Amino acid sequence: MKGRKITNKGQKSHLGQDMVFLRRFFGAPRQVGSVAPSSRFLTRAMLDRVDWVNARSVAELGAGTGVFTREIVKRAHPDAKILVFEVDPALQALIRAEHPTHPGLRLYGDAQELTAIMKDEGIETLDFVISSLPFTVLPQEVSENILNAVQNALKPDGRFVAYQYSSIMKSRLAARFSDIRTKFVPLNIPPAFVYDCGAQLRS
Ligand SMILES: C[S@@+](CC[C@H](N)C(=O)[O-])C[C@H]1O[C@@H](n2cnc3c(N)ncnc32)[C@H](O)[C@@H]1O
Repeated sequence: MKGRKITNKGQKSHLGQDMVFLRRFFGAPRQVGSVAPSSRFLTRAMLDRVDWVNARSVAELGAGTGVFTREIVKRAHPDAKILVFEVDPALQALIRAEHPTHPGLRLYGDAQELTAIMKDEGIETLDFVISSLPFTVLPQEVSENILNAVQNALKPDGRFVAYQYSSIMKSRLAARFSDIRTKFVPLNIPPAFVYDCGAQLRS
């Protein structure tokens, strides 16, 4: 799927978005992974991990209704390239319809396409990857494909910032990154762990 520049500023209430998100969860619980979009506390805990002053290439995986995307657009440098991935077409449509334009923002589907899309976009490496993907409930092959693509994409000093609702992923992340900083965010439904991962271990 080809990404598109986002230009439409149409509005949809957050309550309406939350209902769409809940419906998508009931349609595909293992893909959506949660019943509600992230809270502002989790949004802040995730995005505060990123060095927005210097970051010029960022990917967001699993954008949902765009709670992080809206904040990324506010924080990102005007010259930054931002690749946003959301596999669910209904959620993609919400993002496209609501959030404001950033000149470097492109919206795509399946995060497994990260490597190919970076090539298409002329992006060699990423400074940060921000992930909301529900790795523990996605099919193992899908989550491994995405984690491999993330590792190949990140700069040597790049960071992978991901949240999860349990600590199950920690050992899988520790097999790939030697510097993992963890923060617990209780004010979210459900409460979440933020994993800020760097210093990649290459096989
Ligand atoms: C837990 S929700 C998070 C949504 C939003 N970022 C938030 O924090 O509220 C995970 C999202 O990942 C999306 N997703 C699942 N598998 C994906 C994939 N392979 N590529 C892109 N998005 C995916 C789901 O459709 C869902 O919207």
